[in-house]
Amino acid sequence: MGHTRRVTSIIEQDQQVIAEISNDFPHTAVVYQVYPRSFADSNGDGVGDLPGITSRVPYLRSLGVNAVWLSPFYPSALADGGYDVDDHRDVDPRLGTLQDFDAMLAALHAAGIKVIVDIVPNHTSNRHPWFVQALAAGPGSPERDRYLFRDGRGVRGEEPPNDWESIFGGSAWAPTGDGQWYFHCFAAEQPDLNWENEEVREDFRRTLRFWADRGVDGFRIDVAHGLRKDMSEPYPPWGEIADIMRPDGSHPLWDRDHVHEIYADWRRIFKSYDPPRFAVAEAIVHPTRRARYASADSLGQAFNFAMQDADWRPEDYRQVINDGLADMINNRSTTSWLLGCHDTPRVASRYGLPLDDGRTAQQVARDWLLTDGTTPRLDWTLGARRARAAIMILLALPGSTYIYQGDELGLHEVADLSQEALEDPVAGRSSSEKGRDGCRVPLPWTQQEPSYGFGPGGAHLPQPDWFSGYAVSVQDADPDSTLNLYRQALALRSQLLAGDGLNWVESELSVLHFARPGGVRCITNFGTEPVALPAGEVLLSSAPIDHGRLPADSTVWMRVS
Ligand code: NOJ
Repeated sequence: MGHTRRVTSIIEQDQQVIAEISNDFPHTAVVYQVYPRSFADSNGDGVGDLPGITSRVPYLRSLGVNAVWLSPFYPSALADGGYDVDDHRDVDPRLGTLQDFDAMLAALHAAGIKVIVDIVPNHTSNRHPWFVQALAAGPGSPERDRYLFRDGRGVRGEEPPNDWESIFGGSAWAPTGDGQWYFHCFAAEQPDLNWENEEVREDFRRTLRFWADRGVDGFRIDVAHGLRKDMSEPYPPWGEIADIMRPDGSHPLWDRDHVHEIYADWRRIFKSYDPPRFAVAEAIVHPTRRARYASADSLGQAFNFAMQDADWRPEDYRQVINDGLADMINNRSTTSWLLGCHDTPRVASRYGLPLDDGRTAQQVARDWLLTDGTTPRLDWTLGARRARAAIMILLALPGSTYIYQGDELGLHEVADLSQEALEDPVAGRSSSEKGRDGCRVPLPWTQQEPSYGFGPGGAHLPQPDWFSGYAVSVQDADPDSTLNLYRQALALRSQLLAGDGLNWVESELSVLHFARPGGVRCITNFGTEPVALPAGEVLLSSAPIDHGRLPADSTVWMRVS
């Protein structure tokens, strides 16, 4: 059978820890991410809306997810896809009303699906009343103290305070015209808030209570690692701080220890509800620091982006899984696994591009987008096949799993959007990124024009012709479709795979094989040739099993006899 080796096994005591911490809802949930403007449009204006989501609750129920996370639906000029929030406690009129929100929440709850809303505490939009007041009030005012205004350099303040850069490219400072500049980690339309200011803190407490009082079950915290900045002088030059991943909390902008004081405060709010509200952190931090956000004193969960960044290689998966489980044991929390979200090229395309030594699949895909998807050549079938195998690995792991809308249809990235169609600010500001629109194209529900069932009108980002073959209606009718694979996997997971730890099983190097305590085995063949499976009962496979052999790039769940 070739080269074999034994990989780490989780010892019994650790399994006990995992069993205890992973027993409650958020730690075992499968969460479906809805990007509201691209999910379903009820009124034909080309923009998805809340009544559109309500109309698709039966679909979400048929999928079998436990919760949905809604990306921002708040009033916004869409300078950053809704992450530029004008009012954290209202609904964008293009997406509906608060009454529509309540109706959607009630319909989801009636279907047994919990609801997580996105909280964006690092910044507001530049149209937020606070920011408008700050500009009008002038330097030194209490209104400006809610944000990060600083005097410019030069005689009249005509130079930015320092050379720091925005994540979206270009300077992180924008001028006000009166000698001061304001700081924005993201787009200039997203001024950063000053979290040393008590009014800011109190306003977010109010926002959390506002949604929790309406019945929201949990919160996804945007840029959770960015709230406590050290903006004191002298400023380090950008060259010294451009790498944001530090293992010790010493970066002036990101992942400073004091950020957890904010979340300890929020936890008191979460706990004041019955059942307690929960949260998940979007924290782009050094891997050794992620668990702090997932601890019970902080936000309780944190996305594990390592899986999203992993290449399709068994050693990458093994490493990410082992690190995630170690996090779980050391910090008595769980890992939140994901393969994609609204910020990253779709998994089916990432895994269909040739692997390139020295660059991750993520990087290869981003560069491929710059060629409008022409170079290198995407192997559509291979990527889709690997994406099916990959989701079966994630769904077999202990912890929670987040699924990005459209991945259950096996959608590829829409790589050839024209420059005129692009909406993402990243596209305009950076010559090295095409931006994130390719994974945000409105979903295909049917084969009908004008927008493949997305709504009665068009779609705010153009949908390609090939969407027709991926429509929900087409996949509904095909027992072997990716949609039906997801449905079967989710149903089996809830019966067979919740909670508990895992044991690695000795295998060939190109095979990933682990056992769950209930007896289910998850086996993935990363190699190029079929591999013989142990004798037993196949529960589900991402590709047809041929005479007891697992084909290349596929996963099986089985019981071994
Ligand atoms: C993370 C969000 O996922 C992303 O879409 C957004 O651009 C930034 N945070 C800024 O809010």
